[in-house]
Amino acid sequence: MARVEVALVEHARSRAGFVTEAASHLLSAGGKRFRPLLVLLAAEAGSHPDAPEVITAACVVELTHLASLYHDDVMDEAALRRGADSANARWDNHVAILTGDFLFSKSSELTADLGPEAVRIQAQTFTALVEGQILETVAPGPDEDALAHHLDVVSGKTGALIATSARYGALFGGTTPEVQQALTEYGTIVGSAFQLSDDILDIASESTESGKTPGTDLREGVPTLPVLIARASTDPGDARLLELLDADLTDDRLHAEALALLRAHPAMEQARQYVVGEAARAKALLAVLPPGPVRQALEAFADVVAVRSS
Ligand code: FPP
Ligand code: MG
Repeated sequence: MARVEVALVEHARSRAGFVTEAASHLLSAGGKRFRPLLVLLAAEAGSHPDAPEVITAACVVELTHLASLYHDDVMDEAALRRGADSANARWDNHVAILTGDFLFSKSSELTADLGPEAVRIQAQTFTALVEGQILETVAPGPDEDALAHHLDVVSGKTGALIATSARYGALFGGTTPEVQQALTEYGTIVGSAFQLSDDILDIASESTESGKTPGTDLREGVPTLPVLIARASTDPGDARLLELLDADLTDDRLHAEALALLRAHPAMEQARQYVVGEAARAKALLAVLPPGPVRQALEAFADVVAVRSS
């Protein structure tokens, strides 16, 4: 991870000083480096986890993720990211979008070094990310189940890149095709679980401990698992919450009331339990690996995602 960190700083450099500054802004602000860590962990299941391609692949996924955050904060009109000003707040939407493009192009340049299969995987991942992100802005059709639509969105916008992280690690670390497939599936499930946990935290966290402004999804009217579960309630005691969920929550007073009701609602615990179940499903896929420290680490990784607090 130390090598990845040094390489990332290099990859965020441009011949133009201002571009380097904008592209380094969120990189140096922090971040969990969850995706590159998964690349390295999955590579440990193979015959050559120390291959230089593994480090390159780790940079590819983090740069792609970073690029998507610059764009996402424009879409969400977010003010904070990783405890710092978002790029759109610090500069403006144009700078944020073009910096995201710059980071994605840097990621693509690096992917070319990994060969045509990696390029195809990255392109397909980008398609899934964008489709997921767009579908989030589109209400489900009249015959479509709202929860199924939401899980489809989550699997695209977050599951796909985390699946690719596990897949790249397995591929470039030298695992068998069977293990590559199992770890890709594991990554899809863990990736979706990661996003669902993130959304639960967005409601549950009291302060800006996540480095973001809590309650943003609710304010923006973006559906999340606890909200979808609460919406299905037929309990008359939930009438006020259901009314608020249909209201304009950009109003600070209504937003605070909705957030408080939702935090105290059993839907929060049901959503958490769903995520724990998904982590268990992901861990079961690790049966293709021999028992030992690598499998244990990947199991722990799934557990951390399910019960994360930041
Ligand atoms: C965060 O969601 C957003 C994503 C995980 C994906 C965003 C994807 C795009 C903007 C497509 C463009 C992609 C690239 C590579 C340029 P969130 O808003 O729920 O999470 P948050 O709470 O961290 O903001
Ligand atoms: Mg966002």
